Amino acid sequence: MGLIQAQRGTRDILPSEIAYWQQVEATARSILSRAAFEEIRTPIFEQTDLFERGIGEATDVVGKEMYTFQDKGERSLTLRPEGTAGVVRAFIEHGLHAQGGVQRLWYMGPMFRYERPGTGRQRQFHQLGVELLGSGNIRADAEVIAIAVDFLQAVGLTDLQLELNSLGTREDRSQYRSLLVDYLTPYKADLDPDSQDRLRRNPLRILDSKDAKTQTILQEAPRLGQSLSAASQERFANVQQLLTDLGIVYALNPKLVRGLDYYSHTAFEFQSAQFGTVGGGGRYDGLVTELGGPETLAIGWAIGLERLIGLLQQLKPTQATTTDFYIVSKGEDAELQALKLAQTLRKTGFKAELDLSGSAFGKQFKRADRSGAIACFILGDAEAANQTVQVKWLATGEQQSLSQADLPTLASTLHQQIASIREKGNGAV
Ligand code: HAM
Repeated sequence: MGLIQAQRGTRDILPSEIAYWQQVEATARSILSRAAFEEIRTPIFEQTDLFERGIGEATDVVGKEMYTFQDKGERSLTLRPEGTAGVVRAFIEHGLHAQGGVQRLWYMGPMFRYERPGTGRQRQFHQLGVELLGSGNIRADAEVIAIAVDFLQAVGLTDLQLELNSLGTREDRSQYRSLLVDYLTPYKADLDPDSQDRLRRNPLRILDSKDAKTQTILQEAPRLGQSLSAASQERFANVQQLLTDLGIVYALNPKLVRGLDYYSHTAFEFQSAQFGTVGGGGRYDGLVTELGGPETLAIGWAIGLERLIGLLQQLKPTQATTTDFYIVSKGEDAELQALKLAQTLRKTGFKAELDLSGSAFGKQFKRADRSGAIACFILGDAEAANQTVQVKWLATGEQQSLSQADLPTLASTLHQQIASIREKGNGAV
């Protein structure tokens, strides 16, 4: 029997790259809690209907990409392909709207889409998302976009391009859809096969086609912006003005339509040269009623964490975490004292790694060097006999002897020493 491997389109996130994930997660928690967003965790699988009704049957996500299965009770279930539908279901089910005002929710976790795996494209991937429910105010649009910009800047991505469009109301889009279909139908045979299929199912998505010939045909096509009502156009102009007032740089993209059907008015994406769309979102004013809840205007976004971290890894090629102290010991008494010492150090806030090999000091010292620790604690027979420990500062080789009993009182001095060594760059994160 062959070795069992991770499934196509899934990836293990190994300890060597976990520091990126932890940094991104910590930054998200901090930025979002300062913006008064609260975390929500919804189930990984939901009733299939939720996504069919919420995301739209004509979308690629629902039509081609869902992991749908029957459970033993013959229910049709689907692994969530995105987070918004589940959050809205929870919002309605728990009557969060009854609390009045605006609900500001965020989430982070795995999503599943049966796509062709490639650079930045997986079948299990992770999203960080926010949903602001209960406001149709244009300031909500500006605030939600500003928070995405804040988060991206805080993790260190400053060169993503923010693209913006307005999808107007359902009526605006329906009018535009007929204009677009009328325009494209005579060219049907020249469109790429996906677009031919979309002409019937979901014509607006043709705007998104990557096919050169289709894009040439689209050059003369009617523009969505021209089909927007005066009120939709004014709303969009006001959102743009707010973004400008906030100093947020954006580019208008009249072909930006998004891949999920629930959007209206403001739609936006963050683009990178390497992975294409890193994040996207928009207003979804009709989704809560579509799923059986009271009329609730809402807007949100989600960022793909694999794509985000892929970019960070290029900007900052190493992001190792290091140990404060690596403890080596030899001899029965010394090894017992080292075991206790490791616990004392951890209780006083240090990150301490205990060498458990029992090998000769020479080998243990080599491992101490490789561990990236700031200092090595050494316990041999002599130290064990007089209850001391040798501390060797690895960057300089400087060594000092300390009484084990004094360690808790020396903790704050040691913390300061470690911090100043790290600041000078003698250690990673
Ligand atoms: P989305 O544009 O479908 O929006 O996905 C958001 C992000 O998830 C994408 O920009 C991309 O970075 C990442 N992503 C999507 N599919 C994959 C994949 N197969 N592999 C790796 N990353 C992927 C939504 O999901 C909406 N729920 C966003 C939203 C929230 N709109 C309003 N609220």
